[in-house]
Amino acid sequence: MKKLNKVPSLNGIISVPGDKSISHRSLILGAMATGITTVSNLLNSADVNTTKQVLVDLGVDIWNEAGVTKINGKGGDNFHDPKNVLDMGNSGTSTRLLTGLISGAGLYARIIGDDSLSKRPMDRVTKPLNSFGAKIESNNGRLPMNIHRSRLNKEIKFELQVGSAQVKSAVMLAGIVNGSKTTIIDNFNTRNHTEVMLKQFGAEIEVAGAEISIPADQHLHSVNVAVPGDISSAAFWIVAGLLVKDSNLTIKNVGLNPTRSGIIKILQEMNAKIDIKRVNDDGEIVADIKPHFSQLTAMNIGGKVIPTCIDEIPILALAATQAEGRTIIKDASELRVKESNRITTVTTELNKLGANIQATEDGFIIYGPTKLHSNDVHVSSNKDHRIAMMLAIAALITEGNVILEDDDSVGISYPTFFSDLERVVAK
Ligand code: S3P
Repeated sequence: MKKLNKVPSLNGIISVPGDKSISHRSLILGAMATGITTVSNLLNSADVNTTKQVLVDLGVDIWNEAGVTKINGKGGDNFHDPKNVLDMGNSGTSTRLLTGLISGAGLYARIIGDDSLSKRPMDRVTKPLNSFGAKIESNNGRLPMNIHRSRLNKEIKFELQVGSAQVKSAVMLAGIVNGSKTTIIDNFNTRNHTEVMLKQFGAEIEVAGAEISIPADQHLHSVNVAVPGDISSAAFWIVAGLLVKDSNLTIKNVGLNPTRSGIIKILQEMNAKIDIKRVNDDGEIVADIKPHFSQLTAMNIGGKVIPTCIDEIPILALAATQAEGRTIIKDASELRVKESNRITTVTTELNKLGANIQATEDGFIIYGPTKLHSNDVHVSSNKDHRIAMMLAIAALITEGNVILEDDDSVGISYPTFFSDLERVVAK
């Protein structure tokens, strides 16, 4: 539990931790490749540690040396059946990507997860994988799951039915580990970190519009991966810098892959002043970001932009409570199957502080600007890391004390969030 207050300003430089999506993929592709892959700035958080532990359980050597993570990949022979049940904790990305890897590698494994993960849909990966020859039994499309030994088809063709990069990546990884010719159609333009990184590892992957093609029998070779800062973590500071007057925040080394940076585009359309200085374009685009206090205006958010900002919608909703007019967020029903039902948790928790948000089937209607106020009101993260951080930023602009419950869920993606907050408040 944390007691949080309104602040006059936020000042300083923040280097957000490594990107969660890229961190998971660097470990997995490192394990699939031949040779020693080094990863710098790997995110050290509960979710990524889950992927690391499961890979170790599958027989992969992973260690830290002089501040970098090293993975001794042995190509296709790298993996063996785990001796234990694989516990995926809270991590949907670990579960879905590794289910692809394990079924493609023809292994047996039993997979479990925590209460939240056990409620989330897994049939979005089991159905396509089973249709390509995998033998995965689930609990009505949810965890626990048993993956039985199988060989997949030599040719895999799949069109994404939900806008999920985890599903896309699961099928891609299964196809590559099985040596299949793999074609995937992604009409949702979901995050493409797997495709970008596969190229870095030497895979012959071709992307033509929505179609991704990977020939049979790919051999990945080890590389050095530098993980950029996570835009999804930076988003909290970007919005904080826009909403807290007299702030002077710079967020360094943030990954701005176009399939992830929808939040910047949306905030700019909402009249936000944000300086962006590119520092690197090698594989993933990386930039320093400086938000300036801005009077935001409402807008309609929906359609193709949603997958590019799906994890940032809770903090965008907070921004919309301070924007002039009515903001509508739609086409975002995926929020209902994240670490919490984010349509419900955002609405319930922010309305406790005086926001005017209506939940809809696939998003929100948000009226602004509203003055947030609290007299020791208790709000809860609902054990969802992004709800915890969004509420902590809300508290910085709320009149009166806010009591945040289950604040430790930030450890899923950003364990140092509250120490960064203390530092930029104190300056
Ligand atoms: C992720 C994809 C997204 C995102 C999640 C990470 C990934 O989920 O919400 O935090 O690393 O591929 P979906 O693929 O379910 O949309």
